[in-house]
Amino acid sequence: MSKPLTVPVELGPASYDVLIGQGALEAASDRLKALCPRGRAIVVADEAALAPHRARLEAVLAGAGLSLHVIALSGGESIKSWQSLEALTGKLLDLNMERGEALIAFGGGTVGDLAGFAAAIMKRGCPFVQMPTTLLAQVDSSVGGKTGINTAHGKNLVGAFHQPALVIADSAFLATLPRRELAAGYAEIVKAGLIADAALFERLEAVTGDPLALDTLTPLIADAVAFKARIVAEDEREGSVRALLNLGHTFGHAFEADAAKGALIHGEAVACGIVLALKYSACKGLCDAADARRASAVLEKAGLPARIADLPGGPYEATSLTARMGSDKKNAGAGLTLILARGIGKAFIAKGEAPADVEAFLAGEI
Ligand code: GLY
Repeated sequence: MSKPLTVPVELGPASYDVLIGQGALEAASDRLKALCPRGRAIVVADEAALAPHRARLEAVLAGAGLSLHVIALSGGESIKSWQSLEALTGKLLDLNMERGEALIAFGGGTVGDLAGFAAAIMKRGCPFVQMPTTLLAQVDSSVGGKTGINTAHGKNLVGAFHQPALVIADSAFLATLPRRELAAGYAEIVKAGLIADAALFERLEAVTGDPLALDTLTPLIADAVAFKARIVAEDEREGSVRALLNLGHTFGHAFEADAAKGALIHGEAVACGIVLALKYSACKGLCDAADARRASAVLEKAGLPARIADLPGGPYEATSLTARMGSDKKNAGAGLTLILARGIGKAFIAKGEAPADVEAFLAGEI
């Protein structure tokens, strides 16, 4: 078994490692033992994600002298609710969880967001371990400490920054993931390159063969995590550069809001959104149209939709999409806030974009 890769997230006393690749779980054994001082590992798990890996997890924990205590959830956005948070914290209090005990999240981003928020508020803050089982969670949501739930007012509006003590991004967790979900996570790797890591983007362009093969993916996951770690170390609370991570997301969230229910997944919306952000940048004379074509080519190689016509869940309509973009919580003052680019690896925050310009652009893309 090859040695897992380690990417540090440098945040002073809150620094932590992301262990990536084959055997990351086994390599974390001693650290898990230290984080679970009462001899039990409390794991909030997406039941379906845990099932194929439960025996291995139990064996690793047993090797560290820990018993496994599972709090089972279903995955999906609906668990990011006040009701789920209340139920989860109630179960943790029933277990008499102590402040020094870690809470472990096993699953995709929604499980990590809910469990992370519970860890942030349990006894005013417990350590937290992420075991992300989707590519999207491995390269994005498990790193950086954003936790939270959705409310009737919108997504992720209640939460806390609570950094994990450890992230275990084991490749074997991805082996059972449907290809469509893998591709969705790949969009976030492409995003990292386009924002500020042209060398990573060129490595993605140079991939021959299947970009979603686990051997190919593992070093790319480490590259994307290292990129995110740099951004988070510079701007943990999203006062400045962290907002760049929203490249493709303002367009993407609009598609998600307008899509037929259940038809479109986040990474697909982001993939198309990334290309639109580059095309819009080219329309404004900020970058070359060729940059958008390069982004499309890399995304399409992974089977991702790069054109509105290829996006599931349509048809989409420019006026409605623009209105959705107008209600994005990142907007400040007049006009739309978008992440645009002056070229590959040269993204920047553009404030005050005229909705009429965006609507005309989208109408031309539909
Ligand atoms: N997913 C964007 C961020 O962590 O800031």
